[in-house]
Amino acid sequence: MLPDEDGVAAWLRYAALPESQRTATNSPAIDTVIVLGDEASDASSPLSVAGRELVDGISKILGRSVSLGSSSSQHTSSTLVVGVRDAFTLLEGVPSSSPLDHTDGYWIDPASSSSPSRIIGHDARGVLYGAFAYLSKLAQGRLSSEAWGSSPRAPIRWINQWDNMDGTIERGYGGRSLFFEGGAIREDLARVKEYARLMASVGLNGIVINNVNANASLLSEESLANGVKRVADIMRPYGVRIGLALNFDAPRTLGGLETSDPLDENVVAWWTEKTHLIYKYVPDMLGYTIKANSEGQPGPLSYGRTLAEGANLFAKPLSQYGGFVFYRAFVYDHHLREDNPKNDRANAAVDFFAHLDDAFDDNVVVQVKFGPIDFQVREPVSPLLARLRKTKAVIEFMVAQEYMGQQTHAVYLAPQWQEVLAFDMRVDGKPSLVRDILSPSGPFGWPTTGYTAVVNVGRDTTWLGHHLAMANLYAYGRLTWAPESDARVLLDEWTRLTWSTDPEVVETLGNLLMDTWPAYEGHSGNLGIQTLCDILYTHYGPSPASQDGNGWGQWTRANAKSLGMDRTVATGTGFAGQYHPEVASVYEKIETTPDNLLLWFHHVPYTHVLKSGKTVIQHFYDAHYEGAAMVQTFSQRWASLRGKIDDARWEHVAFKLAYQAGHALVWRDSVCRFYHSLSGIDDDKKRVGHYAHRYALAAPSPNVVLDGYTPVDARLPESASNGKAVQTEEEKSGKVTITLDVDSAVYDIAVNYFDTSVGRASYSLAVNDSTVGTWQGNLQDRLGHDFSEYIDGHSATRIYFRGVALKGGDVLIIEGQPDGKERAPLDYVSILPEGVVD
Ligand code: GCU
Repeated sequence: MLPDEDGVAAWLRYAALPESQRTATNSPAIDTVIVLGDEASDASSPLSVAGRELVDGISKILGRSVSLGSSSSQHTSSTLVVGVRDAFTLLEGVPSSSPLDHTDGYWIDPASSSSPSRIIGHDARGVLYGAFAYLSKLAQGRLSSEAWGSSPRAPIRWINQWDNMDGTIERGYGGRSLFFEGGAIREDLARVKEYARLMASVGLNGIVINNVNANASLLSEESLANGVKRVADIMRPYGVRIGLALNFDAPRTLGGLETSDPLDENVVAWWTEKTHLIYKYVPDMLGYTIKANSEGQPGPLSYGRTLAEGANLFAKPLSQYGGFVFYRAFVYDHHLREDNPKNDRANAAVDFFAHLDDAFDDNVVVQVKFGPIDFQVREPVSPLLARLRKTKAVIEFMVAQEYMGQQTHAVYLAPQWQEVLAFDMRVDGKPSLVRDILSPSGPFGWPTTGYTAVVNVGRDTTWLGHHLAMANLYAYGRLTWAPESDARVLLDEWTRLTWSTDPEVVETLGNLLMDTWPAYEGHSGNLGIQTLCDILYTHYGPSPASQDGNGWGQWTRANAKSLGMDRTVATGTGFAGQYHPEVASVYEKIETTPDNLLLWFHHVPYTHVLKSGKTVIQHFYDAHYEGAAMVQTFSQRWASLRGKIDDARWEHVAFKLAYQAGHALVWRDSVCRFYHSLSGIDDDKKRVGHYAHRYALAAPSPNVVLDGYTPVDARLPESASNGKAVQTEEEKSGKVTITLDVDSAVYDIAVNYFDTSVGRASYSLAVNDSTVGTWQGNLQDRLGHDFSEYIDGHSATRIYFRGVALKGGDVLIIEGQPDGKERAPLDYVSILPEGVVD
């Protein structure tokens, strides 16, 4: 049996390469690592980190004794020599133009029979990246005798953590903050060091450690001197520099000034002094991230100034230190009126920023979310990425799965990012792929451009709350380095490193995870309608109704006959016209808009026929059923890996995938019911509204008797059968008795209930007099994530009892024992013949 693992080593486990997979080339006989250069002995240099990492990695992967040699040690074929290129007297074999010519680049030359192996870096950080690249190949059993090198396409390869100083993480699902607790930086930063190591291993070089909704007290001298500085010192040896998110209003709230007006001289002086102080403690600080005039945050517009004036306020003092302002383009009015058909939140980024292209200082970089709204399951690429020319931009992705199952569902996001990066913006009618725009060699020649992503790692040993979510962090890092990478190739690397080099594991897990995003899109929101989660509450479970009727502007404009946002120039909000003409003309017309973005750009009847030949409404029904059906296969596919990976991680994932299967059905039913009731159009396949195997407990039925249970409205009608659940009285247990009307056979029993965050109710299920099983409504503990206080699509969940022999007339009894405000709420029971999911 394989020893249990907790996930904390992530893809840097350095598991022993199985004997059966070893060859002479993939398992070189290295016994000494020599790091060249004076910095080699300076523990704070990436060079010395590289040396230590190589010794540790090679000895673990190959199970041999490896030591650090001194620079005078002899170089033999069992030596690995490591250093920056200037430290090598001869660069024999390195091509005249190579990745070594570029910042952070490396060149790796595995040993031949007569010469040592070499890892050469353009600079110290390049050496470290080379060391990790070498170890990655070694751990995957993929080291060959061929030399290779690489350098990153973009200089900015960052992370934004949304950590709060009280230790919580905005949109965090993996435990409390690694950085903060109780209003200050934590004493114990051991995991921060491990995080920096993980980042470096995939090429990430910067991190903003605090929430964009920033707490100004991070900037107090005490906090900078005793906290922020320690974080920077710990991350620096890994080539990771830190940045800070600032609160625009800090001059007022922290500095006691009367205003935060960016043109006020006292405000300018305050930020200038603050910047000096920050650099006193962190001399290589990357810069500031600013969320202003966004979702209630103050900003320059609050003082009648332009966004550029706001950004330049920070840019000026930063410029003397070589620091950057990352000014977020996420500026929009969240009190937008839906009754004006021209209003459109998607227009905001270009409307606010494009005309300011000449107005930003040189060291301002505009940070643009990849889509015009907010990390939805499907969005077109933000047109702003092709509309700034002089002003540099970075793209913002989201590793945190805020709208994508919150790390409780497994959803591999790299295929989505790959699509975004390969999208051709046709700037001036010429090829302009997003990934090229985000590179200094791209059409705009931005020297400072690249990537950032919201990441929510926490103290959980899984980092992200779900072992499988780590594939996203891995792939994100690798894409920032090499954005033309293929999502599947990255996934397979990650699997070999994280789980096993067994080809069956790689194949099974790769196929499974590649199915997750399509499945999620299938059961969440199709045809570009957005994720359809509850945007007024936790952004997790389904609530299609929540998109409309409020100022947030994630509208679908669904009515009884039609739905979708008309974003055309001709009749709609004009958003399509924000793209360069060739792209704009594709989106302007229904005929040329791809089906998967139809409802993003057009308002059409439910009966509109898609290019696929289906109507919109039938596509919704089918996609929801297919997506949810796909999710049901995940558990089985995962089950085939039992024994091939350690039990601890296997069980953790198995539990989550089983939960995901149940919740995918909740999604499917809620969304289908909602549009069925709104449109009045039946499902051709007669599935929606017909649940042949279910006993809905709140519906009057001679088969169902409630004792101590009463019907209650679900918070969202579509999230329970007929809009109602049943629950007990406060502090009193209740009983539901169902007389079954089934043929004699073996069935799976599924119980759909609601597991809220306000208690841990207990349940038991019996058939006739014998107990089938018991459970507790404690998903808040087991999934590490609070969904909802209410009976709704977030808390709705399912538990299975499989393989129960039943016959007509059998009596099924569920007893519920409330806990606190959770009154053991139940929805329905499904009695499922073999192979049926309902
Ligand atoms: C989303 C998210 C917020 C976050 C915001 C942002 O709206 O729900 O929690 O603050 O994005 O990116 O600033």
